[in-house]
Amino acid sequence: MPSTPMSAERAAPPDAGRPVLSVAEMSVQFKLPQGWVTAVDRVSFDLRQGEIVGIVGESGSGKSQILLSLMGLLASNGRCSGSAAFEGQQLLNRSPKELDAIRGSAMSMIFQDPMTSLNPYMRVSDQLTEVLIAHQGKSKSEAEEVAIEMLDRVRIPEARRRIRMYPHEFSGGMRQRVMIAMALLCRPEVLLADEPTTALDVTVQAQILELMAELARDMKTAVAIVTHDLGVIARLCDRVIVLYGGRIMEQGSVDEIFYNPKHPYTKGLLASTPRLDEKVHGALKTIAGQPRAAMGDIPGCPFEPRCTLKVERCRTEMPALLGDGSGRAVACRESKA
Ligand SMILES: Nc1ncnc2c1ncn2[C@@H]1O[C@H](COP(=O)(O)OP(=O)(O)OP(=O)(O)O)[C@@H](O)[C@H]1O
Ligand SMILES: [Mg+2]
Repeated sequence: MPSTPMSAERAAPPDAGRPVLSVAEMSVQFKLPQGWVTAVDRVSFDLRQGEIVGIVGESGSGKSQILLSLMGLLASNGRCSGSAAFEGQQLLNRSPKELDAIRGSAMSMIFQDPMTSLNPYMRVSDQLTEVLIAHQGKSKSEAEEVAIEMLDRVRIPEARRRIRMYPHEFSGGMRQRVMIAMALLCRPEVLLADEPTTALDVTVQAQILELMAELARDMKTAVAIVTHDLGVIARLCDRVIVLYGGRIMEQGSVDEIFYNPKHPYTKGLLASTPRLDEKVHGALKTIAGQPRAAMGDIPGCPFEPRCTLKVERCRTEMPALLGDGSGRAVACRESKA
């Protein structure tokens, strides 16, 4: 368990807002020379108004592909199935034009590398105001005032002057703040953030994520954040989704997942995370075995080869993700919610 205190520091979870995004049985597959492989396997979850949900799981577990599919940004050799409804309208497999019409500026995404979203040849002012002019019909000068105010809110010093600069004139941390400003400018209902700060140094990461969470809470924006940092999840999130091999292994509130993990993979993940509040003697625990490499289609539980609780059926049959009705759910027949 991470060192950071949890409930005390997190803002009170929003009262169970209505779901703004409902993902049901979503799968993502990629075509490789040897055939189709599954990267995300029948994933279902809701994102409710104003809540912050953390998505964790080791490299290759499908975190980015979930977010990219929701934004219509799947690679050309990819396909997705299932459903994802934003305000009741289907997002999956729509053309970019249809997607734009459905979500307008109400869904936005922050990537690991700000340069993915920022155009190096355009002044920050033009990039920030473009969306306000296009989606909210503001005049150039009105839009610029809103953009400056947003840069102030993400604590860019001298925003009025700096808004004239080009992205390369900002430091890495400042660029990431500009990205956050851009993503939140239209007060979106949903923000998808894929490891938004891993390129930055640790202290800057924490500040920026806290700022992002604070602004999102202010605007009642629902956030899904992918991060490897369980401390960040503990501090900022209301709920956690634990992925392994493209499947949801467990989900629940932050407190439930951190204080009472049920799935053997979640337990392994928490045990392999350093805690500052405990003196660690010797090496940290690791999960024995190798992460799954390519996602061939297998009938059983993807964690089975590394699981200490496995029984024969785990190899041949994936257990259902069974919930207790409160949002807590575990996909393990040996350890139930
Ligand atoms: N265009 C593609 N073609 C084939 N396989 C792909 C493609 N894009 C992603 N994959 C595979 O999909 C799986 C899930 O990838 P994804 O990027 O979602 O992982 P991730 O959980 O975000 O990992 P990381 O923590 O390293 O970012 C991986 O096995 C990856 O190799
Ligand atoms: Mg990723």
